[in-house]
Amino acid sequence: MRLKGKRAIVTGAGSGFGEGIAETFAREGARVAVVDINEAAAKAVAGRLGGQAIALRCDVSKGSDVEATVKATLDAFGGLDILVNNAGISHVRGPMTEVKEEEFDRMFAVNVKSIYLFAKAVVPVFRRNGSGVIINIGSTAGVRPRPGLTWYNASKGAVNLVSKSMAVELAPDKIRVCALAPVAGETPLLPTFMGGDSEELRAAFRASVPLGRLSTPRDIANATLFLASDEAEFLTGVVLEVDGGRCI
Ligand SMILES: NC(=O)c1ccc[n+]([C@@H]2O[C@H](COP(=O)([O-])OP(=O)(O)OC[C@H]3O[C@@H](n4cnc5c(N)ncnc54)[C@H](O)[C@@H]3O)[C@@H](O)[C@H]2O)c1
Repeated sequence: MRLKGKRAIVTGAGSGFGEGIAETFAREGARVAVVDINEAAAKAVAGRLGGQAIALRCDVSKGSDVEATVKATLDAFGGLDILVNNAGISHVRGPMTEVKEEEFDRMFAVNVKSIYLFAKAVVPVFRRNGSGVIINIGSTAGVRPRPGLTWYNASKGAVNLVSKSMAVELAPDKIRVCALAPVAGETPLLPTFMGGDSEELRAAFRASVPLGRLSTPRDIANATLFLASDEAEFLTGVVLEVDGGRCI
């Protein structure tokens, strides 16, 4: 049990990568707050995890929701050790000039502003603990951007960079901050990235990955588990590419 006794928040845990992370954390002994804007999805995941987990509805782009989520977690678990900022959305793949202003604003609020809001709510708790880990789910999109996802790429570039900036600022408090940069994965978000859903589009994505497949929630959960665990106690500011060699 690599997270025995730890208490974690995982955002966007009602689906995809976040669901995989929540399941893996619970299996490894953590108590997990399954946080999602989709309350039914959060409850379904938490229900499968059993008594280790609670489900919390939260729009991660809203300060009042984030504060309430952190408070509810502290009330339920008596503390917090790990935060995974995973919730994220994208505009549909297409020309950069066709993305609507509302889509741009919403995406930056969910993908980037959420990290700021959770930092304000969680860093004081971690400072009091004298320890804590924050893992932000960035993307290979923010390391090696490709056409058609320009503004999503920009949001994930911000996630990757702010993880390093937070790491260096919070290191004196013994708070570690790392990011994961997954390659395209088999989740409900995939058709948005591909601009459609067909075997041809999947094959084209697979062909761009040296190890010859897309990522899975299990890949992302295993890497997050390592970075969140005490085995990674000397790692901070790392942006770990979980990408089958895509960024080489
Ligand atoms: N799937 C990929 O190809 C891929 C690749 C690289 C990075 N990522 C990143 O991984 C993360 C998870 O993506 P996924 O593919 O698992 O997507 P997903 O759509 O399967 O899951 C995302 C979850 O986040 C929730 N969510 C959306 N907006 C929210 C909000 N405002 N507040 C709270 N919850 C919200 C959704 O309800 C959903 O349950 C995202 O940050 C995404 O950008 C995904």
